[in-house]
Parts: sequence; structure tokens; C-alpha cells
Amino acid sequence: MDYLSLIYRYYPEDNALRRMLLHHSQQVCTRALQIVDRHPELGANRILVEAGAMLHDIGIFRTDAPGIHCHGTEHYLLHGIIGASILRHEAEVLRQKATTDVSATIHSDETCTFYEALARICERHTGTGLTRQVIAQRGLPMPAQDLLPETIEEQIICYADKFYSKSHLERERSLSQTIESLEKFGDAGVEKFRHWAELFE
Ligand SMILES: [Fe+2]
Repeated sequence: MDYLSLIYRYYPEDNALRRMLLHHSQQVCTRALQIVDRHPELGANRILVEAGAMLHDIGIFRTDAPGIHCHGTEHYLLHGIIGASILRHEAEVLRQKATTDVSATIHSDETCTFYEALARICERHTGTGLTRQVIAQRGLPMPAQDLLPETIEEQIICYADKFYSKSHLERERSLSQTIESLEKFGDAGVEKFRHWAELFE
């Protein structure tokens, strides 16, 4: 999948935001693919992990987070949901195209399934995933629904993402620093992360 073309479509200018997004996504991608390559027993789809890691934060430009060059209007926590809606929109465009252009029907179902898998990666990578209870209890600015990473690709990308900060691109957290950074979100998230570390490291 040509994920760079998709990124360039939504980030047409070579500016600090696009450079930051590409740098961060590449960091997550490299780590996620190392996990895939070291653990064939997980049975992860390498192509999906690569594209998903590169696209998981595609929604950030519509959020209000000036510290990381995002000058949109939405709450930053919504960037995963925004990314998912972008990928579902792209799938819909392909579907429409396939109804009018016979040559585009080839592989269109397969492509739409792939885009849906990418959309899920986007919407399920916040923290170690969000439950409807956490969203409601903390009054998070999103619909109260379970947004938990479920497939192995969703889990690997969510895990790999936690080692990197978009505001400090030069930093890579150690395992213990990453666990520490998750403590404020509660014990359940820390437990899940420790479990992933056992599986993936
Ligand atoms: Fe990220």
C-alpha cells in the first residue's frame, strides 16, 4: 500500500508538522516491524503492521495541539477517531470508484478490508486502549465505546507507539520509563503493557 501518498494528500506541505509525523511514524514502524520479525509465532500481517504504524496518527492535523504543530479545532484525544474516519472515507471513495469503473473493481473488496483494518488501528491506539467506562468516568471528549486494541497488529502498534513522544522526537523511552508514563492512566493499562512486553520483547 502506498501509505506515503496518503500522508502527502493530507499533509501536502513539507513543514514541521509533516516532518514530525513522518519521523514519529517511522520510529513506531521500525519498532513494530522488529517485533513482527522477531516473533513469527504471533502470525502478524507485516504489510498491515507497516502501513498501520505509518498511518496510525494521520488524524493529528485536525486537532488543537500547537506544541506539536497541530492547529486544528478538535481535542487531541480524538486524533485516533479522526484518523479512522479518514481511512473509512478513503475506503468509501474506492468503493464508489469501483461502482463506476470496471477496472477498479478488481481487488476493491480486499482493499476496503485493508483500509478498515487500518481504521481500527487508528482508533484503538490511545494509551493502551480505552474502555467505555474509562471514557465515561473521565469525561473524555469521545463517544463512550470500547476502543481496545484486539488484533495482534493493533496490539503491536499500540505497544510500539508508547515508547515515543511526538513532542520529544529524539527520545526513546526505556521499558521502565514507558511503564512509568502509563501509571497515571491506572493499573489496568500498566498490567496490559507488562503483558505485551513479555510477549513482544
Ligand atoms: Fe503515535
